[in-house]
Amino acid sequence: MEKDTHVLEHPPEGAATDWTIPQRWEHYTAEEHATWDTLFARQARLLPGRASHAYLAGLDALRLSESGIPNFEELSERLMRLTGWRVVAVPGLVPDDVFFDHMANRRFVAGNFIRRPDQLDYIQEPDVFHDVFGHVPMLADPRFADYLEAYGRGGNRALELGALKQLARLYWYTVEFGLIAEPDGLRIYGSGIVSSFAESVFALEDPSPNRIGFDLKRVMRTDYRIDDFQQNYFVIPSFDELLRVTVETDFAPLYEEILAQPDIPIAAILEDDEVITRGTQEYARTRD
Ligand code: PHE
Ligand code: FE
Repeated sequence: MEKDTHVLEHPPEGAATDWTIPQRWEHYTAEEHATWDTLFARQARLLPGRASHAYLAGLDALRLSESGIPNFEELSERLMRLTGWRVVAVPGLVPDDVFFDHMANRRFVAGNFIRRPDQLDYIQEPDVFHDVFGHVPMLADPRFADYLEAYGRGGNRALELGALKQLARLYWYTVEFGLIAEPDGLRIYGSGIVSSFAESVFALEDPSPNRIGFDLKRVMRTDYRIDDFQQNYFVIPSFDELLRVTVETDFAPLYEEILAQPDIPIAAILEDDEVITRGTQEYARTRD
């Protein structure tokens, strides 16, 4: 689930004060379950050899290949045993502090609705396929599970320090659109990529985007686009390293430093960047 501006101010009718709602799994129609199966089958073909080892292991451990939209209760039971996380349903995007509080308490908020059959390739609001297929397998990884919990706590701190935008970029470029350098080559682990038919291939194989070594301050200064493929991906060396530089660093002085610096435009390459692939930006040119 990514953050955005079109959120309500109060929980809608039927939602609890923490914005959760019942998933109402029994109410999904056969067509909705079939949409999940179609999306699942398309991604399952693409992801071996492209998705990170941790992601594929999570998909397996959580038995997400079973037919139909997962029941959050059952899914949470499996996830709970692995890393202590649960999945709770929300009506759509929720306010930042609500989102962070759930995460800090190892509750992942997921949309309970699924896209229509004519929206298989793109939907702006995160649905159950993006949230569950995209995010939840990584939560079965103990390191990533710790990372997201710490992120939730850091979120409320960033709100107080006026650095929400900076911290949100870290989420964007890791949780949503992250790449990892594995022994066999680059792999995807970001939920926005693994849940997208076209971007699963684009992120790794297209000559257009830049692929740059992950640097915490650099990432927190970099703008991003929410409406199209990324022009810029950041590559972590390992989940241990991501955990180390984020959890063990006090962000308060970093925020202070980068808030005084200009933002970095989306496709820019800086002198200090570890450039893994210098993109042609050809794709972006055809779209602007
Ligand atoms: N260490 C960060 C802080 O001091 C919190 C954080 C942890 C942020 C992990 C993101 C990921 O605010
Ligand atoms: Fe998301």
